[in-house]
Amino acid sequence: MPTIVEIRDLKEIARTKVPKLFFDYADSGSWTESTYRANESDFHKLLLRQKIAVDMTNRNLSSQMIGQDVAMPIAMAPTGLTGMQHADGEILAAQACEEAGIPFTLSTMSICSLEDVAAKTSKPFWFQLYVMKDRDFVSRLIARAKAVRCSALVLTFDLQILGQRHKDLRNSLSAPPKLTPKHLWQMSQCPRWCLGMLGTKRREFGNIVGHVSGVDDMSSLSAWTSQQFDPRLSWDDIAWVKEQWGGPLILKGILDPDDARRAADSGADALIVSNHGGRQLDGARSAIAALPDIADAVGDRIEIHMDGGIRSGQDVLKALCLGAKGVYLGRPFLYGLGAMGRAGVTKVIDIVRNELDITMALCGERDVTQLGNQNIDPASPLLKEFDIPLDT
Ligand code: GLV
Repeated sequence: MPTIVEIRDLKEIARTKVPKLFFDYADSGSWTESTYRANESDFHKLLLRQKIAVDMTNRNLSSQMIGQDVAMPIAMAPTGLTGMQHADGEILAAQACEEAGIPFTLSTMSICSLEDVAAKTSKPFWFQLYVMKDRDFVSRLIARAKAVRCSALVLTFDLQILGQRHKDLRNSLSAPPKLTPKHLWQMSQCPRWCLGMLGTKRREFGNIVGHVSGVDDMSSLSAWTSQQFDPRLSWDDIAWVKEQWGGPLILKGILDPDDARRAADSGADALIVSNHGGRQLDGARSAIAALPDIADAVGDRIEIHMDGGIRSGQDVLKALCLGAKGVYLGRPFLYGLGAMGRAGVTKVIDIVRNELDITMALCGERDVTQLGNQNIDPASPLLKEFDIPLDT
């Protein structure tokens, strides 16, 4: 096994351990993948201000997200098909997050169900909701999240219809996954993955199968999504979801300042600046480039989180400096999981924590909650490119 020092190392190991169709599902953006790439590359256009001879003892990474204590302001993003990166993937990732004191978000499109994850963890986790056409099903899903004591609901607002992902089409990825000879060949290249899958019963969409009709009939992911997901979803639906749920609500998928103002008006507790990891509107701004205008538009009317393109603790720090109170990592955790199961998720957490901690110290800061615009170099190319003023 190669020495693992950064997230990229785990990605390359995962590439060899996870069948191609599932690795590609995680590692893809829509159409040309330009937004997917910009999510990562735009972080490199932000420069940090170095401060020397500052007392670096007693540093603090702990913070809060939606009023809940977190060991560092990082959560695991909701990611579909996580249990296909590694057998029982959602359970293993939730356990690693719980151990590290950071929130884990279970996707509606998970393989392990709400009840399964709750049975194998001891602290509350967060649940991500897709609003489907069948509102009775959605209502029951929210009730199930309440019954297992999820402590936040993340309502995804940017996927009423699926952005086309070329890799999924080329791999004939269907929902739920159906096996073709090509898939069987890909799986045979990954014996450990196969053993894990043979050893678990969790191989379909645990939150959905048996709870909604028609799931087995669809041939492709996009056909399935367009059959199930509600294209009429609107701002008015937030009140209905809030009423059903009654707990902390986080609105995911905000990229535009006007939408951010509406999110603040909606009564949600937080919004997530996100372009769905570059998987929806290809050609949209990167999430980090969108963040400052949104922070400016809503001020402190609503808590701001962000996801998209974070591959290191430096990236986490930059997002916090530009106005996010917390961030989500999706693919890094999937790479860790695919590479090494639960230990890989823990490895990701350790790598990012260490990078964040040391970078913060080299910026002359000791407390993660005090990071801000003052730590960003005003000459950063990203600020010039998007005409972003720094508030120092
Ligand atoms: C689901 O959230 C996906 O992006 O595939």
